[in-house]
Amino acid sequence: MGSAEFIGTLFSLEGRVAVVTGASSGIGRHMAGVLSGAGAKVVAVARRKDRLESLVDEGQIAAVPADLSSVGDYDALAADLAEPFGAPDILINAAGVNFREPADDITPESWQATLHLNLSVPFFVARALVPGMLEKGAGNIINIASLQSYRAFEKGMAYGASKGGITQLTRAMAQAWSKDGIVANAIAPGFFPTELTAPVFGDDALSRHHADATAIGRNGELTDLDGTTVFLASRGAAYVTGQVVAVDGGYLAT
Ligand SMILES: NC(=O)c1ccc[n+]([C@@H]2O[C@H](COP(=O)([O-])OP(=O)(O)OC[C@H]3O[C@@H](n4cnc5c(N)ncnc54)[C@H](OP(=O)(O)O)[C@@H]3O)[C@@H](O)[C@H]2O)c1
Repeated sequence: MGSAEFIGTLFSLEGRVAVVTGASSGIGRHMAGVLSGAGAKVVAVARRKDRLESLVDEGQIAAVPADLSSVGDYDALAADLAEPFGAPDILINAAGVNFREPADDITPESWQATLHLNLSVPFFVARALVPGMLEKGAGNIINIASLQSYRAFEKGMAYGASKGGITQLTRAMAQAWSKDGIVANAIAPGFFPTELTAPVFGDDALSRHHADATAIGRNGELTDLDGTTVFLASRGAAYVTGQVVAVDGGYLAT
């Protein structure tokens, strides 16, 4: 087997169907394009229909607009997600919010909104897609963790709780489903410029502070996520499960 064929066999996503939540913006939008570029058919999910539809032009990508904070019936959502290309066997849970409230300003409603979208929705969407993955005999689930899965940042109480939870949810998904061929892992990004991190990148001193905290000396660019995304979505990751891979320029290492 030649090297291109070998690499292709390991990492090609041809014939796979991926769901990416949070695909209207930032990391989810970028990852939807990466999976499509690696050969997957991609179902892009978020609330902003126009932004999803602008992605559709980029490849075999279908838009399924949905407010994931108010899903009543996850099985009905799973049926909608299977409509464009058949049962998904890759899921990236990238939809998320960070309200950056000081502890004294957090209300039960804002706490619940953060924990629900960032932690509960990834579980319920994944669980609803598991039967389809089992029928296909394999699945790759990728959750999006954070530096705040490991350490606290100012105004990060609810967000950090949700991201601490997502690392444990990832292990629990692996424990529950990996015997049946579904691997579940998480990517913990460092600081990447998106709508979510506009308050960081809009503040030169803060942005520089975070860049200086990495081993590499800069904040992330979305393309820095490409290799890990394709790897964890691919059959090359068949024996990797329950892991959190930090793509953070060494922020957590130093
Ligand atoms: N950027 C970073 O440096 C960084 C670092 C660590 C972790 N993360 C994580 O990476 C993930 C993506 O964040 P990002 O930085 O790319 O932020 P972003 O650009 O703000 O994207 C967030 C995405 O979530 C979607 N979303 C929000 N509420 C939703 C809802 N109710 N229903 C459906 N979709 C919803 C948004 O789409 P609509 O508004 O169209 O619904 C958008 O597509 C998040 O889990 C975040 O915590 C980001």
